[in-house]
Amino acid sequence: MFTAMNFTGDSLRLIDQRRLPHEEIWIEGQDLETVAQAIENMTVRGAPAIATAALYALVLDAKNASFRTWADYRARFFQGCQRLQATRPTAVNLFNALNAVRQAADTWSSELPKAELLPLITAAAQALEKSDLETCRAIGEHGASLASSAGSMRVLTHCNTGSLATAGYGTALGVIRSLYTQGKLEHVYVDETRPYLQGSRLTAFELQSEGIPYSIQTDSAAAYLMRYERVDMVVVGADRIAANGDTANKVGTYSLAIVAQYHGVPFYVAAPRSTFDPLIPDGRSIPIEMRPPQEITEHGGHPIAPRQAQAKNPSFDVTPASLISGLITEYGIIRAPFGEGIQELLRKGCQRS
Ligand code: MRU
Repeated sequence: MFTAMNFTGDSLRLIDQRRLPHEEIWIEGQDLETVAQAIENMTVRGAPAIATAALYALVLDAKNASFRTWADYRARFFQGCQRLQATRPTAVNLFNALNAVRQAADTWSSELPKAELLPLITAAAQALEKSDLETCRAIGEHGASLASSAGSMRVLTHCNTGSLATAGYGTALGVIRSLYTQGKLEHVYVDETRPYLQGSRLTAFELQSEGIPYSIQTDSAAAYLMRYERVDMVVVGADRIAANGDTANKVGTYSLAIVAQYHGVPFYVAAPRSTFDPLIPDGRSIPIEMRPPQEITEHGGHPIAPRQAQAKNPSFDVTPASLISGLITEYGIIRAPFGEGIQELLRKGCQRS
């Protein structure tokens, strides 16, 4: 299984996801700014992965800075958090992880020396990475319980939610992995995921390397497949889930959910508790990242539209809760109406302030 990152102690090594699947190039992030830029430019992407990368960026910053005590470093630490949370606006995992470490920081003694501070920040980053991996495996197990006893599943997914987008295993792709391991998977339909092609470049890469049967289709072919082939379930990931279950995920997810409902295909969202945002009542207030128009008008640096063409590139959209059959979390599957189930989920861990 591929991993998105590897912390060496002196640097954060990130596989450059922009170059996959044909080139496996690792970049060496030795300071906070390099990692922040790697999040912005999609070297590392996927909601849980960017949260973990951000915490390792804080470790690098504390390591690189010259200071004697926490009191000397505190201001720079909080500036670093600000820089990291300005990288990408939609995935709440990043904000939840930074807020948790900021809350811990409020309890640190001013006299704490650098030699004792560094292990604290490192432990926070390592704990997030470890718990993300365990969480994904639990999501996978719960999701696999959805398999019908009648036979193997044909599952459609969007974007990349696998080991490249998390600390390992994946969320929606974790469900697919678990189905496969349990012998309950027949085929994965992979949306190519315009414009950034996370599906055809990254999800296909992960499935290919593990011998999981798949085929790629254009995003707009989902209706065709549901009409003329057998699609038993759609499972996607999430970047932020509001208190009522409205879900922000990669652009195209909303139209996929509409198409699934029309064809009576169950539509599931697989996401950890850290993707839920209790402060946002519904999807209307989820910030949607607008990415550069060139991601649409160019491909591999070559223009694929008139040079003067304007393009709008919302990177995410919001699927209303009413289109979602269930939310697969590490604690189990939440069914509609989601409000109460989400509140219960949020009580199972510490809440974002
Ligand atoms: O822009 P990206 O590639 O970071 O978007 C990723 C997604 O939308 C994923 O579906 C989501 O982050 C869940 S990853 C487990």
